Amino acid sequence: MGSEKTLVIGMFGFGVVGEGLYKILKQTPSLKASIKKVCIKNPHKKRSAPADLFTSEKNDLLFDPEINVIVEVINDSQAGYEIVTTALKNGKDVVSASKKMLSEHLQELIELQNTTGKSLLYEASACASIPVIRNLEEYYDNDLLHSIKAIVNGSTNFILTKMFEEHLNFKEALLLAQQLGFAESDPTLDIEGYDAANKWVLLLAHSYGINTNIKEMLFNGITQINELDAKVAQAKNQSIKLVAQAQKLNNGKVASFLLPQFIDANEHLYFVKNEYNGVVIESGFADKQFFYGKGAGSFPTGSAVLSDIAALRYGYKYEYKKLNQPIKAELSWDFHLKVYVSFEDIKFIPKEEFNSIEEWHAGNERSYLIGTIPFKSLFQKNWWKSNNTSLILMPQCIVEDSQISELKKLSLSLAGLES
Ligand SMILES: NC(=O)c1ccc[n+]([C@@H]2O[C@H](COP(=O)([O-])OP(=O)(O)OC[C@H]3O[C@@H](n4cnc5c(N)ncnc54)[C@H](OP(=O)(O)O)[C@@H]3O)[C@@H](O)[C@H]2O)c1
Repeated sequence: MGSEKTLVIGMFGFGVVGEGLYKILKQTPSLKASIKKVCIKNPHKKRSAPADLFTSEKNDLLFDPEINVIVEVINDSQAGYEIVTTALKNGKDVVSASKKMLSEHLQELIELQNTTGKSLLYEASACASIPVIRNLEEYYDNDLLHSIKAIVNGSTNFILTKMFEEHLNFKEALLLAQQLGFAESDPTLDIEGYDAANKWVLLLAHSYGINTNIKEMLFNGITQINELDAKVAQAKNQSIKLVAQAQKLNNGKVASFLLPQFIDANEHLYFVKNEYNGVVIESGFADKQFFYGKGAGSFPTGSAVLSDIAALRYGYKYEYKKLNQPIKAELSWDFHLKVYVSFEDIKFIPKEEFNSIEEWHAGNERSYLIGTIPFKSLFQKNWWKSNNTSLILMPQCIVEDSQISELKKLSLSLAGLES
């Protein structure tokens, strides 16, 4: 095609993703794109590419007039932010995989794209090889998007799969994930939910046009999930997954959260195992669609970066159509969640916060209840993250205001909690 640009790439980072992209590009000669220079941090590390490709001087790339695309795949979000903003200001298009940096600065980066006219693409930053951002952006009109439900973190999904299928406890499953390279040596960002929350900020912007940040998000990781929880799930033919979910409510607003959730055996996400990611989109007329693929790793992530680079050949930009529409989608605080809570001692559970408690099972070491609680209450209070308490969403977890009066008829005393 005559309108295709020749791309001269300056790449920051030669780790898991950068090296993967380098190898993929070597096998894709039809794409008129070549890496001119790679900037890394440590100039003394041995590399699997010619030494004259590398520099540790960022301005060799950022101020080279021949380089028209910067690929930013480094593991330092502050440095990444400086690289990406300088590159855009210097008239270069940018591809990034750094979800933390993107999530923390999304609004500013959108404005910078507008003022510079340059493009910033980041398909690899959420669900790596699954082409979900561009699909949400281009294919799903806001009015038609009923809900999106996703497993966006491969490490936690791997750990949960091992807890369920091989009956490992949390620590054993985490150790295995680390040994196999699916979890970092410091796994905090993954297991406490931060990595998934950063990705969810990006997916919310492209699915509903909602610009938020992780401080405004109800989220948790998987560290509190214990053997009783796994047994309860298995008895009900369910599994537990860390699920990000957004859904349009009857009031037109959007409910959004990221928490462990029981998943029925007939749901698509039930089949997303190990390090895989999955996204289920429900739209007005097409019903459910399911995207499935590798959410991390050198080649899967590199392939998403490659797809963005290919899109730059014909000048592709995210239009942020949903963020720019006159009536913006808003997050709702006025809904309720049906939750399972397991705990060591009932004294740590604020029963008065619940709209209703529908089930209650006492055990020797741990007990659990199932009830409905206002979303706001969970967001504002932290009891469910402490004292060895575990909170997991029930499968159909969203309860709208209109459904609450029915539930209130089930009183606490009927549930046997008035001891
Ligand atoms: N790994 C995945 O599967 C995956 C999936 C999706 C998104 N991502 C995201 O992609 C990014 C890269 O991840 P990764 O797994 O490839 O990381 P990584 O293996 O730890 O590699 C990081 C690279 O960044 C370089 N670097 C760090 N600070 C730098 C700086 N200031 N200037 C230039 N280079 C610098 C390092 O240089 P040295 O080699 O000299 O140390 C290294 O080559 C992260 O933001 C990550 O969240 C990763």
